[in-house]
Amino acid sequence: MSDPPVTILGVESSCDETAAAVVRNGRATLSNIIATQTELHEEYGGVVPEIASRAHIERILPVIDRAMKDAQVGPDDLDAIAVGHRPGLIGSLLVGVAAAKTLAWAWGKPLIGVDHVIAHLHSGSLDAEPPEFPALGLVVSGGHTNLFVMRSPIDIDALGRTIDDAIGEAYDKAATILGLGFPGGPIVDERAARGDETAHELPISTLDRDSLDFSFSGLKTALLYTVRGTPKKRGKESYYERDHSDLSAAEIDDLCASFQRAAVGAIMLKLRRAFEQLSERDEAPRTLIVGGGVSANSRLRAEVTAFASERGLDLRLPSMAHCLDNAAMIAGLAFHFYKAGRFDELSLTASASASF
Ligand code: KG4
Ligand code: ZN
Repeated sequence: MSDPPVTILGVESSCDETAAAVVRNGRATLSNIIATQTELHEEYGGVVPEIASRAHIERILPVIDRAMKDAQVGPDDLDAIAVGHRPGLIGSLLVGVAAAKTLAWAWGKPLIGVDHVIAHLHSGSLDAEPPEFPALGLVVSGGHTNLFVMRSPIDIDALGRTIDDAIGEAYDKAATILGLGFPGGPIVDERAARGDETAHELPISTLDRDSLDFSFSGLKTALLYTVRGTPKKRGKESYYERDHSDLSAAEIDDLCASFQRAAVGAIMLKLRRAFEQLSERDEAPRTLIVGGGVSANSRLRAEVTAFASERGLDLRLPSMAHCLDNAAMIAGLAFHFYKAGRFDELSLTASASASF
């Protein structure tokens, strides 16, 4: 006889998206509700933590209610409540964690806390066949840039991480330098398609020969100096001779394209290194799993697709709807903890740092 289905409500509030979703057996997305706060943070050019947590408080219960209604489930149909409890903005995380704990207690359901970054790796398994392991995992988001070796959805070791900015953060800062608005990633991506990527030689960070870590701050500074010139001194103050308003639209397109070539080039360089290193130590991956907001990037999607097909890897690239922060990935990953009998107490806490 087959196992009875496992239905999990997932809650996500780690940054500026308030989200809830109902997922069956870690795969079938019955509902996936995301209330984005972009419009609240736009005028500040970045996420303001206090505004984010207040908005989460206002939205979390209506969002959960909508997710349950869309999935056509009631509390009795749920097997567990899952929540992304780390990493993220602490004030934002606390709202989701408090909501999930309260519902778990009130409805008498087990609670499962999951790591938001690891959950991004589950996005490409939603509404798809389960991937084969070992897998090489890549998370590229606004807060994280990580490589992992995955022996199962929950048996994961970190291989590399950014030593300064995350790639999404670098995209957002590039957009600010170029006067393009927030969040910058999608805008830079779109403008890059019209530009000449060879117009500027921006640096692709390599770090040490065997390193699987990333660095994006040098690229950001190179872009800044290309746009504004090197800083000059007037007494104790430094100033720039020009800024983005002195550039034509075509020049901005070229800068976006050159930035995108270097940013995606740095990711691909480390992906190739990781694949070679794992193959040398007899852990040759069968699958490449990519997740996080920057997996929506058109150039990255094209390059990882080519990389996977050259090496015969099954590629798990989230659908565009699952690239950005969502709760379906939280509920989906939690299914594997449920199966392994790994539950949390109601004393579960939020944490700003990652679990790995
Ligand atoms: O995963 P996510 O929703 O939030 C975090 O957990 O950080 O990722 C958001 C990030 C932002 O930095 C945004 O600019 C970036 O993903 N992003 C993109 C694209 N779409 C979103 N970056 C580059 N190209 C895109 N098309
Ligand atoms: Zn995220």
